Amino acid sequence: MPLRAIAYVSEASAGLSSSALDALVEDAARFNTVAGVTGVLLFDGQRFLQYFEGPEDGVAAVHERILQARSHAAITELSRGRVPRRFFPYWGMRWLDVDAALIRQLADGDWDGFAQGLAQDRAADSALDQLLELVTGRMGTNGPVHAGA
Ligand SMILES: Cc1cc2nc3c(=O)[nH]c(=O)nc-3n(C[C@H](O)[C@H](O)[C@H](O)COP(=O)(O)O)c2cc1C
Repeated sequence: MPLRAIAYVSEASAGLSSSALDALVEDAARFNTVAGVTGVLLFDGQRFLQYFEGPEDGVAAVHERILQARSHAAITELSRGRVPRRFFPYWGMRWLDVDAALIRQLADGDWDGFAQGLAQDRAADSALDQLLELVTGRMGTNGPVHAGA
């Protein structure tokens, strides 16, 4: 079954506490696990950058829930398309705290090669490459894996 993925940035609603975010992501991870969707959510205290992937119907259902959520606004899609394989199989969903500069850099990055996945013969520096590097670098260094792993 072909896999699809979506990446976007958004602005958190004012006053979203980290415990509210934990609860939200726990709920998201539960839903995603049933839908066969995996991914990662970066948060700098104000902005989100999320990437998720899975079967078409699962991705569509998750996307709808994300569009409906009142905990964020100003959702801007970075990329959407088919992916040749799962790049982020680790978690149903998990959030990682990152610097604002990193979200800015990723949001401004090259998402064009998204459908081809990671760089092979391209310059190895697509936004997807950078995100994967970040996530694998943070695995195991940031406390226990939780929330629907
Ligand atoms: C930044 C963000 C990421 C989310 N990611 C997912 C997700 O991956 N899967 C999912 O099913 N729902 C996701 N949701 C939806 C939440 O799990 C939840 O249903 C939603 O936030 C409902 O509460 P709210 O309207 O108070 O925000 C996300 C919501 C936000 C704000």
